[in-house]
Amino acid sequence: MVKLLKELRGVQDAPVTGKTVLVRVDYNVPLKRGDITDDARIRASLPTLIHLLDRKAKPVLLTHLGRPEGKTVPELRLEPVAERLQVLLDRPVRKLDDCIGEGVSEAIADGSPGEVILLENVRFHREETANEAPFARALASLGDLYVNDAFATLHRAHASTLGICDHLPSYAGMLIQREVAALSHLTDEPARPYLAIIGGKKARSKLGALRDFLPRVNAVLIGGGVAFTFLAAMGHSVGESMVDRSVFDEITKLLQAADEHGVPIHLPRDVVSAQEMSADTQTEIRPAADLPDGWMGLDIGPETVRLFSEQIENAKTIAWIGPMGAFETEPFSHGTNAIASAVAGSNAFTVVGGGETGEALTKMDHADGISYISTGGGACLAILRGKSLPALEVLRDG
Ligand code: 3PG
Repeated sequence: MVKLLKELRGVQDAPVTGKTVLVRVDYNVPLKRGDITDDARIRASLPTLIHLLDRKAKPVLLTHLGRPEGKTVPELRLEPVAERLQVLLDRPVRKLDDCIGEGVSEAIADGSPGEVILLENVRFHREETANEAPFARALASLGDLYVNDAFATLHRAHASTLGICDHLPSYAGMLIQREVAALSHLTDEPARPYLAIIGGKKARSKLGALRDFLPRVNAVLIGGGVAFTFLAAMGHSVGESMVDRSVFDEITKLLQAADEHGVPIHLPRDVVSAQEMSADTQTEIRPAADLPDGWMGLDIGPETVRLFSEQIENAKTIAWIGPMGAFETEPFSHGTNAIASAVAGSNAFTVVGGGETGEALTKMDHADGISYISTGGGACLAILRGKSLPALEVLRDG
């Protein structure tokens, strides 16, 4: 990764003065009734934008928001994003109604210096995720240079992250450089013991990552919904907890592989259980592997917090992806809060990946204690797994 970082064509070396620069950002931010609840991804893009504006370039921004699957979805239009960016940048931001076409090129040509233009959600066009060449060419025709700063979308080989690079000189933005530098602490000779903490709702999306982590880490802690699929696959009673039976065979193989690698996988001993997920429901601490019918596990319990915290205290490198429970609902936030506090207080080099985990840390006031909070979930995980990402490789010389 350090080698990759050195080989990236950085925006700092791009001849941007007076040019129209297409910048792919990731403004896929969480929205609640049209309001942005976490603008970390917008803030993270500011250094690149300021760099361009200081050099009298004309930044034209491309992003996706949500998964509209090729249709125009009014709730996924970018007006709230444009408003927030304008406040954060303290500059005018002009939001256009599409991301390709004659009207868009004319509006860009009319743009005044110092103004930032934000194009409409690129995923309103089906051709974006299909990485279709004519669409990539149409995007590329809008600018002189291309800068990718959408770290969180690097694991997607789409028209605005990959195809576009066939048509324009392309560079890595400052956020991508910052993320790659931070993650290289984990991919290149991490200090040991190296601990992976995996949580979140769905087991399926984490299994591939866990398999790739095994030869790299010294121990794994599993919480969140993922833990119940593991416990159920091992034959334990988990009541009504979230379980994905289709991955049981894969889990059996993974547990065998962990044994072969000598990497312990720690699962919760106790959980906070309830009959429904609501703020005023009655909760009970119960053994994680013995939940009665009608009850589900929604957070790790105090005994598990103690055991996990011991592991965290001994670690020198920690990667944490996915919350430990349904942290958005108060009675189930304590496990994530306690693990966040332990990770923030540890002397290890700590990286937190994934929008949701970063959001939880910020909400719980532990963000300052973390060495690096990545803006990416899937992209961060892919890099930590050692995957090669075409949208990143294309920004590399040699
Ligand atoms: C993310 O939030 O992980 C990125 O913006 C990518 O979004 P996607 O999973 O919809 O491709």
